[in-house]
Amino acid sequence: MRTGRTPCRTGSGGASPGWTRCPRSWLGAPSRSAQPILCDDAVRLRPWVEADAPSVVTAYQEPGIQRWHARSMTTGEAKEWITAAHSSWTAEAASSWAVDLDGVLAGRMTLKLDPGEGTAVAAYWTRDRVSGRGVASRALRLATRWAFSIGVHRVELEHSTLNPASCRVADKAGFSLEGTRRESAPHADGRHDMHLHLHLHLHLHLHARIDTMGTHDT
Ligand SMILES: CC(C)(COP(=O)(O)OP(=O)(O)OC[C@H]1O[C@@H](n2cnc3c(N)ncnc32)[C@H](O)[C@@H]1OP(=O)(O)O)[C@@H](O)C(=O)NCCC(=O)NCCS
Repeated sequence: MRTGRTPCRTGSGGASPGWTRCPRSWLGAPSRSAQPILCDDAVRLRPWVEADAPSVVTAYQEPGIQRWHARSMTTGEAKEWITAAHSSWTAEAASSWAVDLDGVLAGRMTLKLDPGEGTAVAAYWTRDRVSGRGVASRALRLATRWAFSIGVHRVELEHSTLNPASCRVADKAGFSLEGTRRESAPHADGRHDMHLHLHLHLHLHLHARIDTMGTHDT
């Protein structure tokens, strides 16, 4: 199991913008490459380690996480969940990070990857005690930029329309609302309409250009 002690770096680089389909080995032989650690000036996304298991168990006892992720976990299940996260990385199926704030586990950010289609689907939660401090939106921004750096063209996420905080996270991370999938996801209280949000590689370049133009104008 990887320990996550490699230095912080954003992206593995090398992908050319504009790909609509990804090269076969888009992560660069993941069996030989460590999962990246992504940081900004507040949060740090790192691979899960077995020592995270007790914190994962506690997180899944929080009502918000139980409600929207529909499960609880024993310590044994949390360890299996962490092992599965590492297997998914090796299989190029997903990249799942523990999100640290001030050196303490604050959340989870996962991108399910589809190399053939050049797409990724984001899922996340953060602990109650860090709520409203920008952890989820920062983590989503970092993960999305990394996805584009390896050749992903389209990053999606879905949330229930009864979860406005998640909608705001998507908005803050630069995702646009693509539409509403009506009654698409079963929840404990019935089927929910789901918002589908989208970030395209093209959007990132457009935002970067607009930022640059703004800088020149002032
Ligand atoms: C939703 C969740 C990920 C937000 O994490 P977070 O770290 O607090 O997110 P951020 O601080 O980056 O942004 C949250 C934003 O939502 C806003 N918000 C919080 N509750 C809200 C509500 N009920 N209605 C509208 N906006 C709300 C916050 O004010 C903040 O926006 P602001 O910065 O403009 O003030 C977290 O609360 C969580 O994990 N909840 C339970 C599990 C879950 O919902 N997962 C997502 C499933 S799709």
